[in-house]
Amino acid sequence: MARIIGGIGTSHIPAIGLAMARQQYEEPYWKPFFDAYQPVRAWLKAARPTVAVVVYNDHGLNFFLDKMPTFAVGAATEYRNADEGWGLPTLRPFPGNAAMSWHLIERLAEADFDLTTCQEMSVDHGFVVPMQLLWPDAPEWPVRAIPIHVNTVQHPLPSPARCLKFGEVLGRAIESWPANERVVVFGTGGLSHQLDGRRAGFINKPFDLYCLEKIVHEPELLAKYTIRDLIEFAGTQGPELIQWLVMRGALGAEVRKLESNYHVPISNTGSGLLLLEKAA
Ligand code: DHB
Ligand code: FE
Repeated sequence: MARIIGGIGTSHIPAIGLAMARQQYEEPYWKPFFDAYQPVRAWLKAARPTVAVVVYNDHGLNFFLDKMPTFAVGAATEYRNADEGWGLPTLRPFPGNAAMSWHLIERLAEADFDLTTCQEMSVDHGFVVPMQLLWPDAPEWPVRAIPIHVNTVQHPLPSPARCLKFGEVLGRAIESWPANERVVVFGTGGLSHQLDGRRAGFINKPFDLYCLEKIVHEPELLAKYTIRDLIEFAGTQGPELIQWLVMRGALGAEVRKLESNYHVPISNTGSGLLLLEKAA
């Protein structure tokens, strides 16, 4: 049976991808940020996951404002990124696991989640930056990926409570897949940021630290927020926290926190990193 070995919450800011392309690891602005990822990379190396379920939000590459699914699951054998205008390089394709995707889709649909299924899916910085950040030097991607998009772009967005529930069902779906996979679940985005409007540049460090702490053992406290609350406390793009709630839901009730880091700002954003191990 497939087993979830852990979950990772991480930022997906495009500037990180650019800094990696330019090898700016040692520059004073970037060094503390990249250094915080070393223990998480080491954990991945030792834990040897075979599948990464990457929960993120497309920002306009694969879906645009004319058609924006609430939950979309990739069911392709391969995923590619493309130029989104940030100057990010086009990376080698990411292998998928279509059979496992369809299993997750069936279990989620049985639990009344209405999904968009994508047999073709371009993946944007929300997916690509975390993959590159966590496996920077791998000559080949060491995992097969299953991208899952949760809308945080075009209102109305799914509530934090619904996303935690989605994660719980997703976790059970993963662990009912008969193949012997070791699965890591990513939730990407956040934490507080506002890229537009009068509060552009808004970051709320105390709220971000509260979320980083509470998501570990009391995610239901965060699930009580409305999307409007998240926008008020964490900026217009702050609702990306719902990706982290899906990841947290998938891990089940008992988790151990192995790593947690907060770095502010990276670009316009409070950047969070969290590594949780699923308790047996
Ligand atoms: C930034 C953050 C994001 O989450 C994103 O999708 C794009 C840009 C930023 O801070 O620059
Ligand atoms: Fe984003």
